[in-house]
Formats: sequence, C-alpha cells, structure tokens
Amino acid sequence: MSWSSTAEGTVSPRAQLAGVPVYSAALASAAPVTVRASSNEAPDGVSPAVRDAVIARLARPNRYPLLGGVDLIAALADALGADAEEIAVADGSLSLLNYLLLAHVRPGSRVVVPWRSYEAYPICVLTAGGEPVLVPNRADGGHDLAAMAAAVDDTTAAVILCSPNNPTGVALTHDEVAGFLAAVPATTLVVLDEAYLDFDARADRVRSRELATHPNLVLLRTFSKAYGLAGLRVGYAIGHPDVIASARKILPPFPVSALSVAAALAALGDDAHRATIVATVHAQRAQVGALLAEAGLPSFATEANFVWLPLGERSRELGALCAEAGISTRVFDGEGLRISLGEPGLPEALSGVLPRFAAS
Ligand SMILES: Cc1ncc(COP(=O)(O)O)c(C=O)c1O
Repeated sequence: MSWSSTAEGTVSPRAQLAGVPVYSAALASAAPVTVRASSNEAPDGVSPAVRDAVIARLARPNRYPLLGGVDLIAALADALGADAEEIAVADGSLSLLNYLLLAHVRPGSRVVVPWRSYEAYPICVLTAGGEPVLVPNRADGGHDLAAMAAAVDDTTAAVILCSPNNPTGVALTHDEVAGFLAAVPATTLVVLDEAYLDFDARADRVRSRELATHPNLVLLRTFSKAYGLAGLRVGYAIGHPDVIASARKILPPFPVSALSVAAALAALGDDAHRATIVATVHAQRAQVGALLAEAGLPSFATEANFVWLPLGERSRELGALCAEAGISTRVFDGEGLRISLGEPGLPEALSGVLPRFAAS
C-alpha cells in the first residue's frame, strides 16, 4: 500500500518535532555480534521465579492487568517503605519521564539537562514542548552541579540529574544531590534518574529516600538494568503524592502489561538474581578497568554497568575494531565510546582489541 498526497497538501505535526534528534543505534558492522555491549542490558539468564510467574500469567492473556498497575505499586511500596500514593509504574522509566515532563512543561518552559547524558532526555523535553538547556559535564564526566543550578531561572520547569550518568558512568554523592536540592527553588521539578543505582557500591552513594523532604524531587527507577527485564519494559517513579498524581493523570489506564507486572513482582521477590547481575558487572568492571589501564587507554571512573572511553576523534576507530571482533559498542562520534559490562566473553574479546588499538 502506498499513501498518496493531494494538491491541498496534508496534515502537519508541531514545527518543534522537526528538530527532535533520532535515538542512535549500535555501530553497524558486517561482522556478526558475539558480545552485545551496546545497550547496557543485563547478561542473559532469566530468574526461574520470573520465568514461572510469566508463564503462569500467560494462561490468562484475555484479562486486563489491574488498573494503574496497583498490584505492582503495592509491592513496591512495601519493598521501599513508601506509600502507594508516592509511586507510579509504567512501561519503562523513560515513559515516566515523558509523563512527568508533559505534566510540568508549559509553552516557553526550559528543562536543564546535563550533557552528555542519556540521549533520550533532549528528545523527551522537545516532544513535551519544552526547550532543553544542555549544561556540559565537568572534564571528569560528572555533572557540573554549580553550572546546572546557575542555569535554573523563572522559565525552568524541570532539571534532570542522572546518577550514575549514562554514558559517562560517573555518579553523584548523597551530599552533592542534597546540596543541589538546597540550591534550586522548591518550585522547580528535579528528576533524579537512578536507572543504574544498583551498580553504585560507594558508601556515599545517593540515599534518595532521605531526600523526600524535598517535595520537588522525583526518582526514576527501572527493572531494565539490575533486574534484567529490559525486554519487558517496567519502570517506576517515586515522589510526592501531588507530583505522582499529576503524572498519573497522563498515564494510560493500563501502563504495564500483565506479563510485565508478573515478571516485576517475581523479580522484586528474587533479590539473589539481582545481586548476581550486580556482582557480574562489578567483576567485569574490575577486569575491563585493568585491561584499559594496561593498554594505557583513558576511561572515566564508572559506577555503572558500562564504561566510557573519552577518545574524541578516535572513538569510531575503536568502535569499528570492536565491531570487527564481534563486540557491539555505542560510539558518540568525536566524543567517546561506551562499552556495556556484564556479557560473558567481553574481557577476553577486548583483550584482543585494546592493545592493538593502543599501539596503532
Ligand atoms: C539513564 C537511563 N534512564 C532510563 C533508561 C531507560 O530505562 P527504561 O528501560 O526503564 O525505560 C535508560 C536506558 O538505557 C538509561 O540509560
């Protein structure tokens, strides 16, 4: 079928959509991918509890899930020591970011975004009708919180923080976030994206629940990373009941599929599986860190399940060498290369590539 156009022209979307960047993909290569290190996923292997729960729910595909995902919300409230009114669930934490922005961005609103950070942020801001204000990270890959706070003005609807930050891996400390919240007006929404929080093992990592004294703070969490459920799309937001209520007004009535709710409920009850994924990442972080140091290649201090190499103009060259060796990575042209950690065989495959690259 091919759609035809008429002499009168056709419908047109909001002009702002023309400037929306496209979400990038792993570097294309003719070589088959044997080690998937491009999407910050968990390594293969399903928790038996999750598998059984999904299979059991598969017997009733004709029935809707509970409205609003209330069963998952209740389980999360229990696990987090929170009230159900403080939590919203959706098909991934990214959807929740979209709903929060749609609820808070007004015509002319700006949203302060650290950069480089998760590439979806400017896309979400633009599609919500706002203007992203990109604040460059410090030279070590961490957010420049002083510059971000200084970028907040009367037009700022929201600020996004990402800790650990994708793609640099650098994480904020508890005191840094507490200081930032004290520095910005209580009327500015602050979204703290904690997609990779589980991998941050530092003693001074953000203790986000202690920051609930700031009603303008919302936390985003996901089952996609440390719980290994990226394909099932489940995330949640924790915040003040009024902020959560505004996002819920925009949420679809059934924001998470019944199979995904079943999987997330089972995953919450299987902390051993999550701990195994985290331990695998920590082990590889040390191994890959040692390989990079041996090869004399630069990398940022990562607290996540990926590592960032600030290689500038040489980023694509290493990405191409990795691709030839069957390792998919994410290249940000002219800036750096991100390698996800956790896949079996990654250190071995990298050990063949990194010294060659360093010597060339
Ligand atoms: C920082 C960050 N936030 C959110 C997401 C998306 O999470 P979800 O799968 O829950 O939508 C990602 C995915 O890579 C991410 O890197």
